[in-house]
Amino acid sequence: MEKKHRPIGFLDSGVGGISVLREAIKLLPNENYIYYGDSKNAPYGTKSVEEVKKLTISVVDILLAKGAKAVVVACNTATSAAITELRKSYTDVPIIGIEPALKPAVELNREGNIIIMATPMTLAESKFNNLMKKYGARSQIVPLPCPGLVELIENGELEGDEINNYLADKLSQFLSDKIAAIVLGCTHYPFIRTEISKIADGVPIIEGSLGTIKQLNRQLLSAGLINDSTEKGTIEIINSLEDYKIIDLSNKLLRL
Ligand code: DGL
Repeated sequence: MEKKHRPIGFLDSGVGGISVLREAIKLLPNENYIYYGDSKNAPYGTKSVEEVKKLTISVVDILLAKGAKAVVVACNTATSAAITELRKSYTDVPIIGIEPALKPAVELNREGNIIIMATPMTLAESKFNNLMKKYGARSQIVPLPCPGLVELIENGELEGDEINNYLADKLSQFLSDKIAAIVLGCTHYPFIRTEISKIADGVPIIEGSLGTIKQLNRQLLSAGLINDSTEKGTIEIINSLEDYKIIDLSNKLLRL
C-alpha cells in the first residue's frame, strides 16, 4: 500500500485521546485512523516517568507494526514523559504530541487566574514548566493537579454526583476570585466540559485538540503524506483491556 494511504495512529492511556481523534476526523475525514487506548494501564498520570515512557514506546511500536504513517500522542502525560525520546528513536515517522493550551488562554487577555487542570505528572514535568516560564510573567497561572479524575471518566462517569462533587471540591477554592480561563490539560477532560462549566459558569474552557490536529495536518503536508482518497476514511479502535465495554465507551465518546 502506498505510504500516504496508510492509517494515522493515535494513542492515549485510555479513552481520553478520542477527544483529539474526533477533531482529526472533522478536519481530515479522508484519512484512515487506528486508535490505541491503554486502559489496562490507566491512569498514566500517577505513575513514574520511566514507567510511562516504557508504556508509551510499546504502544507506538504496536501502531507502527500496524502500518501507521504518523503517530499522534493524544495524551498530555505521555507527551510530557516520552515525546523527546520518541522523536529521537523514530526519525522517519512524524510524531505529534499535545500540551496544555496555555497560549490561547493567555491571548484571551481576560482578568483573573488561568487554571490548568491536568494530571500530576503533566504539571510536574519540564515541558509544562517551560510553558509556565514562557507565559507565567504575563498571566496568573494556577496549576491544578486532578488525580482520580481520569479513573472516573474511564468508568464512563461523565455526569452525576461523583463527577460534580469531585469538580466542586477542586474548583470551589477559586470561585471567589476572577477566573480568566480554565485549560483542559488532559485529553480525558473535554468529555466533562459541560460539568466543569456548570461550576465555573461563564468561564472560557480551552483545550488543545484542534491545535494538535492542525499541527498533524502541517506535518503530513510537508512529508507528502496526506491521503488523497475522496472516500471517507476508516476508524479502528483497539484497547489493551480487550473488553467490549471499553470499546463501547470509546465509540460513544467518538460520537459526543
Ligand atoms: N489522557 C491523558 C492525558 O492527557 C490521561 C493520563 C492518565 O492516564 O493519567 O494526560
